[in-house]
Amino acid sequence: MNIILLGPPGAGKGTQSRRLVEERGMVQLSTGDMLREARASGSELGRKVAEVMDRGDLVTDDIVIGLIEEKLKEGAEGGFIFDGFPRTLAQAEALDELLARLGQKLDAVIELAVDDEALVDRISGRYTCAGCGEVYHDTARPTREEGVCDVCGGTEFKRRADDNPESLRQRLMEYYKKTSPLIGYYHAKGLLHRVDGMKPVGEVAAEIDRILDEAAKG
Ligand code: AP5
Repeated sequence: MNIILLGPPGAGKGTQSRRLVEERGMVQLSTGDMLREARASGSELGRKVAEVMDRGDLVTDDIVIGLIEEKLKEGAEGGFIFDGFPRTLAQAEALDELLARLGQKLDAVIELAVDDEALVDRISGRYTCAGCGEVYHDTARPTREEGVCDVCGGTEFKRRADDNPESLRQRLMEYYKKTSPLIGYYHAKGLLHRVDGMKPVGEVAAEIDRILDEAAKG
């Protein structure tokens, strides 16, 4: 089963993807994570995208489509979760073509709907484990033991360079201008499911599970 998690910055796409990987053996394809890895490696691609990401703008379609194409070729038995991709109509059309070429299809697109004010709070309170990437929040989801990752026991944490009020404003603008039209695109294809992302993590997870179980029945 291949699914897209669609939603503004901070909607909970990464949080829900990590759970689906663990519980359903799916493979998470996060273009944001791929771009951050490229940055950290100091590659030419990483240098090219660093400034764009820090400003909160979108990286060009050809770069992210190329990254996704590479990963799709590797295959995934449990299916793919597209997290933060596609973000433009051009990317959505490219994904349709890539999947068709591999004899695959999309099974569901899940829109996580969250109010803008809540997004500001989520983004400003977010931190991740430097070791395993587990996502936490200062108040909504702190580590059980202070300063120790629940998952890997790591004690180093980081905050993202683009998690500041100016970048977030631009990221939201990009989302509403370029990504939100995808809601109509996938609705027209009969694939869209809207989930209330304002609910606690566990309730959002249960709703996603219900949708995926339904979709699996065909
Ligand atoms: P990307 O890394 O994809 O960032 P994003 O879309 O802005 O989304 P986030 O990762 O910020 O949020 P999320 O929805 O995953 O929320 P999370 O689960 O962490 O992209 C970064 C940049 O890369 C882009 O700006 C762009 O420059 C570039 N890029 C990436 N893909 C691209 C593409 N396809 N095309 C062009 N450019 C691209 O949760 C957030 C916080 O909230 C956490 O602290 C979490 O603990 C908490 N939380 C989660 N769920 C809940 C809940 N239900 N209740 C309370 N708190 C919650």
